[in-house]
Amino acid sequence: MILVTGGAGFIGANFVLGWLAEHDEAVVNVDKLTYAGNLGTLDALRADPRHQFVKADIADAAILQNLLVKYRPRAVLHFAAESHVDRSLHGPADFVQTNLVGTFALLEAARAYWVRLKGAEQENFRFLHISTDEVYGSLAPDAPPFCETTPYAPNSPYAATKAGSDHLVRAYHHSYGLPVLTTHCSNNYGPYQFPEKLIPLIISHALAGKPLPVYGDGKQVRDWLYVADHCAALRAVLARGCSGQTYNIGGWNEKTNLEVVHTLCALLDRLRPKSSGSYRDQVTFVQDRPGHDRRYAINASKIERELGWRPAHTFETGLEETVRWYLDHSDWVHQIISGDYLKWLETQYAQRA
Ligand code: NAD
Ligand code: DAU
Repeated sequence: MILVTGGAGFIGANFVLGWLAEHDEAVVNVDKLTYAGNLGTLDALRADPRHQFVKADIADAAILQNLLVKYRPRAVLHFAAESHVDRSLHGPADFVQTNLVGTFALLEAARAYWVRLKGAEQENFRFLHISTDEVYGSLAPDAPPFCETTPYAPNSPYAATKAGSDHLVRAYHHSYGLPVLTTHCSNNYGPYQFPEKLIPLIISHALAGKPLPVYGDGKQVRDWLYVADHCAALRAVLARGCSGQTYNIGGWNEKTNLEVVHTLCALLDRLRPKSSGSYRDQVTFVQDRPGHDRRYAINASKIERELGWRPAHTFETGLEETVRWYLDHSDWVHQIISGDYLKWLETQYAQRA
């Protein structure tokens, strides 16, 4: 079996659902269920004996060690993190705790387990660390996209803690021989994304008739990757990646935030027209994010060349599928929107007005 951390969050849950749709290999899913974790996303697996959910904090090394000894996974896939840049600006402590201290505790538990494995079991074990392109910092408009050798230059507390966790993972390979794989992906989008992030936030605000907040001039660029494509890339890295290597995963889809917002409005105008006017009328420019990175873009040639992975979705197909999914699953969005989230929206957007 495999052990996944953060499998009740956006990418982790998509990974677990996709994995069990394709494999019979069981999954132990360890998640603390923070505001971003949601068991409802995993409803389809409630009675599935191949899925074992454990509510636990990755910073609790003793629990992790027990789980590793009990389930004897052949791999750990580490998704769990505090993941929202704006929240890291408001409160970086949780990011240091989970992304750095938590990853350290998980690495210690994995090392203690791995050194006791024997022969092929030890040789074939993998620790797959899911990182981000944000560790590379911000690109100038004409600069080449990030590749695996781009120097680190994290700009937000979130990116700095992810960069620190990457360095720990690298050091556990270099110093102790732990067989690790690290991936850096660009901005994911698709089903089950918490509505604090740009794409689901714009969809839910549009439908609620609320302002669509665009930070600064809206000309910041992100490279959008459909989550199912990302999960397929992770399966390829786990199956065929070389221990100690890093792989960049991107969608070859650079778009400005304004392009994304306008495309979402056009899709909603077609799929759920308003009684009058366009959703574009709700676009509102608000104060920029402090230290806002201007451009991210991934050069995903290495993973294509070495592992044969390329994204299957274009931005147009992926975004339309995503909008249709949110229109069909308004119950999922309502179920996860809590009082705390409404309080977050109030604090975050009142300050930017
Ligand atoms: P998410 O915020 O949607 O989910 C994170 C999950 O981790 C939640 O289920 C949460 O409950 C769990 N978690 C948080 N702290 C924990 C702890 N201490 N112990 C156990 N579980 C804990 O995040 P996501 O968007 O699914 O991102 C998953 C991973 O991918 C993260 O490591 C993130 O840095 C990375 N990443 C995300 C994106 C993106 O666009 N979403 C892009 C690049 C990299
Ligand atoms: O690049 C990978 C990263 O992508 C991941 O490591 C992070 O975990 C993930 O959250 C994401 O970070 P971003 O900051 O790029 O994503 P977010 O959806 O928060 O914002 C995308 C862009 O849209 C960014 O330039 C900020 C802007 N934005 C965001 C929000 C929430 C707005 O203009 N308005 C908004 O209300």
